[in-house]
Amino acid sequence: MLLSPWRTDFPALAVLEAQGQTYLDSAATAQKPQALIDALCGYYVSGAANVHRAQHLTAERATRAFEGTRERLATWLGAAAPDEIILTRGATEALNLLAYGLEHLIERDDELVVSALEHHANLLPWQQLALRRGARLVVLPLDTSGCIDLSAAARLIGPRTRVLAVSQLSNVLGTWQPLDRLLPLASAQGALTVVDGAQGVVHGRSDLAALACDFYVLSSHKLYGPEGVGVLYGRRSALARLRHWQFGGEMVREADFQTAVFHPAPLGFEAGTPPIAGVIALGATLDYLQTMDRSAMLSHEQALHRRLLQELSAREGVRLLGTPQAALASFTVEGVHHADLAHLLVEQGIAVRSGTHCAMPLFRQLGTAGAIRLSLGLYNDGNDLDRAFDALDRALEILL
Ligand SMILES: Cc1ncc(COP(=O)(O)O)c(C=O)c1O
Repeated sequence: MLLSPWRTDFPALAVLEAQGQTYLDSAATAQKPQALIDALCGYYVSGAANVHRAQHLTAERATRAFEGTRERLATWLGAAAPDEIILTRGATEALNLLAYGLEHLIERDDELVVSALEHHANLLPWQQLALRRGARLVVLPLDTSGCIDLSAAARLIGPRTRVLAVSQLSNVLGTWQPLDRLLPLASAQGALTVVDGAQGVVHGRSDLAALACDFYVLSSHKLYGPEGVGVLYGRRSALARLRHWQFGGEMVREADFQTAVFHPAPLGFEAGTPPIAGVIALGATLDYLQTMDRSAMLSHEQALHRRLLQELSAREGVRLLGTPQAALASFTVEGVHHADLAHLLVEQGIAVRSGTHCAMPLFRQLGTAGAIRLSLGLYNDGNDLDRAFDALDRALEILL
């Protein structure tokens, strides 16, 4: 039956079910556990205060809780120390921070390397950096399975490569990228490596030691945490190469009218009041995730994913994009416009994503105007898939 023992930890699931809604859009954002909601309310009910500034008790409590999340993140990811963790306002902001923070290292004709499957968040900051500096954006092609083509990468990554920025798990194709073989190609050339873990970290690959990258980015709201918080891990030696990018309160050690001296990471990259409640609630979310049997959770997700692929493959005219390995599947149906199909699914209460999933260039390469994406969270179960596929069959009866 593929039931999820964690479903009841997410109160929204019962509410959505009562409304006849089936949530299969967790790759866009995940529903939230009660532990997060309690922490968020607890923070506001017990007194809000700014962090790292005042000495009063409420401020000290807020600062301790805020820094507690940084410590948990460092442990969770296997960072060397909490000060390798910068808290941002989202994964997108973290990637923009990098593209601005590394700008001074990029010269005319240098190369910034991304892959053809990047989310706009890990494409446009590098594209714009290349334009600002007269550098070249090099795009690694994919093989037929939807993974970065390693032999092409070996040809394209070279002595002018300054940064390699790639996703861990594609938000469109659901393919794990061969980072263990790809990243060393860039490191061997002295380039910095950036991994966009916004999807990958949710589905069990959060071990920085195994990844061996210089920077790693994740998005709290996809990891069952609150919105408005992102995480940038940086190896200490890589963080030291970043220039400050946003300026304001608490990131500065000494300020005069004409000059200023800034803090190093992490505080030097956290200008202004951070999303305090969200960061504290992310800490509670991590505590919640720590309580669960991680291998049971991954087996559950894998079983659901296998079923998702079987059901899609069993339907005539359905074409999967790539060969999804985890968490999601994007597909088109021959002779059917994805927007029409999405409309009929949504009318039947199936929450799916349709369109180009913030990866327009990839869709252009695939020669596809758009696709439907079904994505899974740890709270989904076999009933969700039954409802989705009943709805899909009814929709296809109308459309074909
Ligand atoms: C692979 C990937 N990278 C980056 C992002 C951007 O995350 P956020 O919108 O939380 O900043 C997303 C969001 O969909 C994503 O899927």
